Amino acid sequence: MSKKSGIITVTMNPAIDLACTVPDFTPGAVNRVTTCQTDAAGKGVNIAGLLRKFNLPVTVTGFLGSENALVFEKLFKDKGMVDAFIRVPGETRTGIKVLDPKKQTTTDINFPGLSPQAGDIEKLISTVDRLAENSAMVVIGGSMPATVCASVMDKLVAVIKSRGAKAVADTSGSALDAAIKAVPWLIKPNNDELSDLVGRPLKNIKDLVREARHLNRTGIAQVVVSLGSRGALFISENEEFLARPPAIEAVSTVGAGDAMIGGLVAGTALGLSFRDRARLATALSAATVAQAGPSLEALGAARTLEDKVLIEPINI
Ligand SMILES: Nc1ncnc2c1ncn2[C@@H]1O[C@H](COP(=O)(O)OP(=O)(O)OP(=O)(O)O)[C@@H](O)[C@H]1O
Ligand SMILES: [Mg+2]
Repeated sequence: MSKKSGIITVTMNPAIDLACTVPDFTPGAVNRVTTCQTDAAGKGVNIAGLLRKFNLPVTVTGFLGSENALVFEKLFKDKGMVDAFIRVPGETRTGIKVLDPKKQTTTDINFPGLSPQAGDIEKLISTVDRLAENSAMVVIGGSMPATVCASVMDKLVAVIKSRGAKAVADTSGSALDAAIKAVPWLIKPNNDELSDLVGRPLKNIKDLVREARHLNRTGIAQVVVSLGSRGALFISENEEFLARPPAIEAVSTVGAGDAMIGGLVAGTALGLSFRDRARLATALSAATVAQAGPSLEALGAARTLEDKVLIEPINI
């Protein structure tokens, strides 16, 4: 394996997802849980999980609360991810989902996140700097804790690039804005995130393509704009197309974006062409939407969808 073959994922605001089923959930009453599942999650962690399914070497970093790190440590060990998370005092946030199969409702209860301080942020930047030296790609995924200012994003992208690794940023709002300033290698905003970025609603393909091309011209080599069930626009200097997913029965869209990033990053690591990466990413995200959980269960079955992805030219 070459020296720069590793992949790093950075998750500054991970979460423990607690999904519990409560038939007839009633606020203000005593409610009984019938089934419950706890998962260590967060964009970078989910993406790392998908990359491990391809047997790619992955190191995970970001901030983790020292008081409830066990569920993450178990996942890292079980899945063979190298743990380089910075431990921060306190608890990683929990997101509780109360699923009521009778009323067909989902109630979300979200805890506040960690509060990394200046020293923790410095540690993260130096960790990414050190790891990027031996890595081909670094993916920064998800939101940022309230105490971390957006400029950390462009610092991270700059550090990654200075070490000769490819920076991938999957975030939104001011964090995406900051990442773009430092010109990452790949971004994958969805329609809303791109609209937010440019400060006006982008309602048609023409507008979206124009903005994606503009970002590409600023030096972002691959600009992917995901459009939910409509697929995604893939824009690079030499190639542009729309990849349409096969028709599937949507069960849960949770994790669609992570699967798309995972597919793009895995495809790059495997040496696939831009088109084949788009096919792979689109197939993996469609397969993720067709199942209940956020992390793709059967990679083999998902890959059979690759041939069913339609690649259409952009005639604008
Ligand atoms: N209903 C669907 N059927 C097939 N594929 C889908 C469906 N919804 C999403 N996808 C695939 O997943 C990709 C990413 O979805 P989406 O645009 O919703 O990302 P996102 O908003 O970033 O998601 P996330 O909330 O996970 O970050 C789409 O480009 C598409 O290829
Ligand atoms: Mg997303």
